[in-house]
Amino acid sequence: QIIILDFGSQYTQLLARRIRELHVYVEVIDYEITAAELKAYQNLKGIIFSGGPASTYQTDAYQIDQQIYNLDLPILGICYGMQLLAHDFDGVVQQAQKQEFGRATISISIHNALTKDIPKDSIVWMSHADHIDKMPKDFEIIGTSKNSIALIKHETKEFYGIQFHPEVTQSEYGTVLLKNFIFNICQVNQDWYLEDFIEQTIANIKATVKDQKVVLGLSGGVDSSVSAVLIQKAIQEQLTCVFVDHGLLRKNEANEVIEFYEKHFQMKIVKIDASEMFYQHLKGVVDPEQKRKVIGKLFIDVFTNYIEEHNQEITFLAQGTIYPDIIESSKKGHSSKTIKSHHNVGGLPKDLKLTLLEPIKDLFKDEVRQIGQSLGIADQLINRHPFPGPGLGIRIIGEVTKAKCDLLREVDAIFIEELRKKKLYNKVSQAFATLLPVKTVGVMGDNRTYENLVALRSVDSIDFMTAQASHLPWKFIDHVVGRIINEVEGVNRVVYDVTSKPPGTIEWE
Ligand code: XMP
Repeated sequence: QIIILDFGSQYTQLLARRIRELHVYVEVIDYEITAAELKAYQNLKGIIFSGGPASTYQTDAYQIDQQIYNLDLPILGICYGMQLLAHDFDGVVQQAQKQEFGRATISISIHNALTKDIPKDSIVWMSHADHIDKMPKDFEIIGTSKNSIALIKHETKEFYGIQFHPEVTQSEYGTVLLKNFIFNICQVNQDWYLEDFIEQTIANIKATVKDQKVVLGLSGGVDSSVSAVLIQKAIQEQLTCVFVDHGLLRKNEANEVIEFYEKHFQMKIVKIDASEMFYQHLKGVVDPEQKRKVIGKLFIDVFTNYIEEHNQEITFLAQGTIYPDIIESSKKGHSSKTIKSHHNVGGLPKDLKLTLLEPIKDLFKDEVRQIGQSLGIADQLINRHPFPGPGLGIRIIGEVTKAKCDLLREVDAIFIEELRKKKLYNKVSQAFATLLPVKTVGVMGDNRTYENLVALRSVDSIDFMTAQASHLPWKFIDHVVGRIINEVEGVNRVVYDVTSKPPGTIEWE
């Protein structure tokens, strides 16, 4: 396998995806890992240093265990990764006078195992403010761009550095370069196939769980659903799924999800209707973070109560954790601010003494979707837009009440129904409505109205870390707004949110 040491680049996950697409197993690990820890990996064939926002010359720059260079493994440094190589081998990295962001042309001067089959001149994607000012010891330049040293290689060791991002599609020969590194230089075998994954995972679950019982929190989202189906296929009725209806779901959501899984997978699902309790506890709560905390805690209480009532029987707690969740939470060296407190069943108390079962923890989201498809889960469920754990609770600005939830459910249902009808649903990444604590004056028929304002939002995004407002056809928005105002009592005005993320976030709270 290959390991990527992560220095915090926004492209690290994309890089890992590109390598998985080549049917090679890759893991992303925090850069603080030691050489001794890396040695424990069986079958490790090469290391990639990712890019990152830091500068190697800063006093608190991310440094690695220098013994990693003695592991006798090929290394490819990308962007910050190349600058780190330069820094560690006595080169000089400085802020570039001419920074390069976006497309650039590179010119290869020496063709070797890394640059095989790449023409002399090609387009790449650059994103750097620093560059190599003085070459590191025992390295040679194998390519340049107009303003920087773009490719380097150690004269005797298999250490390579590139200033550009091969994982980005704009880099014309990026995949060729990655293939060269992985197959020519690291000599990795292609043995990561999703078809094998299903069989192997089901066998592993059987061997781990044996005749014991498993409980899983089913949300209806793709991750928990795929986990549930894999486990169900392995141990059938030893699995119980718990679906907590917190009253903050979309229209008909609970019933649709439960009916589908019961019918198609004969799954045992316990639905706990806790909506009244949630509405009670949300009375008077208006602060977004406070709301998230109240909802997250109650959710866990409901789930925990169920488990405690059945504690004697249950040994395993299954979760739909996926690989990006693990990467994010393992970034111990990175300072990141809490923008919003996301919740999932990960916040369960430790004294529950259940063993975690996380069958898809090595997969990326689109791999999970592919597995879901192979398992026969309906496209409609697999390709659903993300829905936040706190649900409509964070789409109602101000106090949450059942009446407001009911009103918002109707608005949301019209918007989603129309997106599906006009075949736009799968073209956008996430669409929803938010109810604002504002009333505005309108006129309907000959009468004055003084009713609620709702905002529609639809975004296009790859990883939901950044997003742009979808450019939905004006005629379409016009039609949706007309339907909402005519069909949902209590709404007399609709706006469309065109804010990107950043500076906005996708949800309003
Ligand atoms: P933001 O609003 O942070 O959202 O730009 C990014 C993505 O995350 C979803 N989201 C959540 N998902 N629990 C979740 O499971 C949460 O608490 C939560 N908050 C936001 C949001 O819908 C978007 O897809």
